[in-house]
Amino acid sequence: MKLLVTGGAGFIGANFVRRTLATRPEAEVTVLDALTYAGSLGTLADIADQVVFVKGDVADEAVVDELVRQSEAVVHFAAETHNDNALVNPGAFVRSNIVGSFVLLEAVRRHGVRLHQVSTDEVYGDLALGEDRRFLEGDAFNPSSPYSASKAGGDLLLRAWVRSFGVEATVSHCTNNFGPWQHVEKFIPRQITNLLVGGSVKVYGDGKHVRDWIHVDDHNDAVWAILDKGEPGRTYHIGAGNEQGNLAVAQLLCELTGADPDRIELVLDRPGHDRRYALDASRLTAELGWSPRKTDFRAALGETVDWYRAHQDWWGAEKSGVEAQYARREHGARG
Ligand code: NAD
Ligand code: DAU
Repeated sequence: MKLLVTGGAGFIGANFVRRTLATRPEAEVTVLDALTYAGSLGTLADIADQVVFVKGDVADEAVVDELVRQSEAVVHFAAETHNDNALVNPGAFVRSNIVGSFVLLEAVRRHGVRLHQVSTDEVYGDLALGEDRRFLEGDAFNPSSPYSASKAGGDLLLRAWVRSFGVEATVSHCTNNFGPWQHVEKFIPRQITNLLVGGSVKVYGDGKHVRDWIHVDDHNDAVWAILDKGEPGRTYHIGAGNEQGNLAVAQLLCELTGADPDRIELVLDRPGHDRRYALDASRLTAELGWSPRKTDFRAALGETVDWYRAHQDWWGAEKSGVEAQYARREHGARG
């Protein structure tokens, strides 16, 4: 199969490419990635001879048209993905996440190519703490941040292109991922690397916000289940039913690194910070037979800590710049 993977130099996309090469030797993989601050060729260095890499923007019609024309299926990961950045520069999110999806949808429509779009649980907005509910496929979108609104925008376009033009497309909404190759701006890698360099664990607000964590390999296996057996036009939730409060994750990271929990610091909250995300992923299990495998959170998080310990060459150069950016934002917000 000739597969185009957008955003394949980022966290989930690069893990997807690795998993695909390991489990699907017949796949011919082309990666399209703009190599923003979040993407890096270093992430693909050891498999560079097994993929075709094209540096380009998913909102660039000419580049996308040519690559889609040569493909049998497209898996669309490329996006601006960090909520904190969306509060500073939302325009980049509109361009990559809405215009990017539009350009891809038009290209798959022209060339009759199968598309799977990777989206987020955040499109539904948040749930209250303690509310006995998880979002279901079919619930209304109610995004609260510029990032989640831009992802919802791309997903609404996909729904319209399926209904109006009959494009062969599916979309998945997944919960928070963790695992190797995740940028140090994100919660889990930020705190692991803070602990490894002797810093403190920075938890926003009261630390009671809840996220539903899934290992990136489980996410990517679900994407393959949808590519193999999913029904075009259908939406699938991907989640492992692993809700954790941020403070609890911070405490577990201290335990796993042997750090004193008094290194946890409550810092200024993120504006508009969503309280809780949780998805019901039973459709994927019932219809496609997928279920998560890395469900021992402590063990999987421990492996992730070990990976960051062993890969300082990959994240070390980024770390001080990211922390300086966070410090500037906190300073700016406090005036
Ligand atoms: P990431 O930020 O680590 O990687 C994004 C990649 O996309 C980078 O390589 C970047 O260079 C590339 N990119 C950004 N804009 C581009 C553009 N205009 N053209 C081409 N390439 C571009 O993100 P991630 O965490 O790997 O997320 C991948 C996808 O999964 C995103 O669509 C995200 O919304 C979705 N998602 C992420 C999570 C999560 O927890 N990380 C959960 C659910 C869904
Ligand atoms: O839910 C899926 C989404 O998960 C994806 O669509 C996004 O691309 C991905 O970035 C992630 O969004 P979050 O905003 O939930 O992830 P983040 O890692 O930024 O933060 C996780 C939680 O930790 C959130 O409640 C904010 C909090 N946090 C984050 C950082 C960076 C902190 O308390 N301290 C921090 O330093």
